[in-house]
Amino acid sequence: MTTLQTPTNAPKKTPCSDQLERLGWQDRVLLAPMSGVTDRPFRDYIRNLGQGQVVTEMIASEAAIRQVKDSRKLNQAIDDEPGIIVQLAGTEPALIAEAARIMEARGAHTIDLNFGCPARKVVNKASGSALMRDEALCGAIFDTVRAAIQVPLTVKMRLGWDDDTLNAPKLARMAQEAGLDGITVHGRTRCQFYKGEANWEKVELVQAATSLPLLVNGDIRTLADIDLALKQSAAVGVMIGRAAQDRPWLLDQAVDHLAQRTPKPAPKAAERHAGLCDLIERMLCYHGPAHGLRQVRKHVSSALVGIDGAGAYRKAANTTDDPAVMLRLINDFFVQAAAQEQTPIKPDANLALAA
Ligand SMILES: Cc1cc2nc3c(=O)[nH]c(=O)nc-3n(C[C@H](O)[C@H](O)[C@H](O)COP(=O)(O)O)c2cc1C
Repeated sequence: MTTLQTPTNAPKKTPCSDQLERLGWQDRVLLAPMSGVTDRPFRDYIRNLGQGQVVTEMIASEAAIRQVKDSRKLNQAIDDEPGIIVQLAGTEPALIAEAARIMEARGAHTIDLNFGCPARKVVNKASGSALMRDEALCGAIFDTVRAAIQVPLTVKMRLGWDDDTLNAPKLARMAQEAGLDGITVHGRTRCQFYKGEANWEKVELVQAATSLPLLVNGDIRTLADIDLALKQSAAVGVMIGRAAQDRPWLLDQAVDHLAQRTPKPAPKAAERHAGLCDLIERMLCYHGPAHGLRQVRKHVSSALVGIDGAGAYRKAANTTDDPAVMLRLINDFFVQAAAQEQTPIKPDANLALAA
């Protein structure tokens, strides 16, 4: 069992590029795991847009082991996905370790432990951010999973359960002592859910407690946010969630920005249109027509923004059960968006998909 120790102020070594490469963090920009969002089609879509590392949505350890219908699909999704970082959720150290072994054997590059999910259905099972309330159990999970796998092991957590228990620095230290390789911190407590603002300065207290590479997460929406979050947290890189769903090209821009290259401009309407159609095709193919259409709606909502009357397009596109109608509405939206940019696109582009 890991012994608890208070944070020290020992001098830190800046993580070297070999260390980041080993973790799969070499771009210093990661797509945050988002259940129901960062599925295989979305991960492939993000990869096709350029740089930035992707992480699976969380996979429940028990389900990964039992290989029931839905989890079998989640598990198989990582096959033939080099460099994939797999996030596991769970409560029982031995079960998480077993799931980690299975994922390692399937080719996971890195295993990430979910200590951050605030959802009631997760914390009610004492999983996700609820784990942060039981430091002894956290220590047992670190030790047991570390001993079970050879690939890098990381943990994603929040600042603590609530403002009175900001124990992320202590857990970070425990993670380091147990031989973990990296940490991500979302700068909110569990009790905040997604309210208020992420506190990047408090993330710095976690970085100060460990010499492990750390990613700062929460409310990073722009390149300027990246600069400020890194400055305030002293983290080595960023993890971006919701903003990457709204603007999937942000990860590629962020990697260039951090490498002091000029980022590519945001894509024009025609490119965004083609990208969305590509994603829809992937999702319908992967999830099947009915479930795929439901899953795709959140991406349609994120994409159809920025012009007068966008709300009406979103509503119409997201209430139809007919993919052809959805694609026609999306086409009409982007014709208008392109007209506003004064870069007309071919009105019937991508309607072939609807045939
Ligand atoms: C729809 C949704 C699903 C999420 N699912 C997960 C998850 O599976 N695992 C996890 O660690 N965090 C999950 N999160 C939290 C995100 O990874 C991230 O920590 C949070 O959204 C804050 O980052 P952001 O402001 O960049 O979105 C989820 C968040 C959202 C919005």
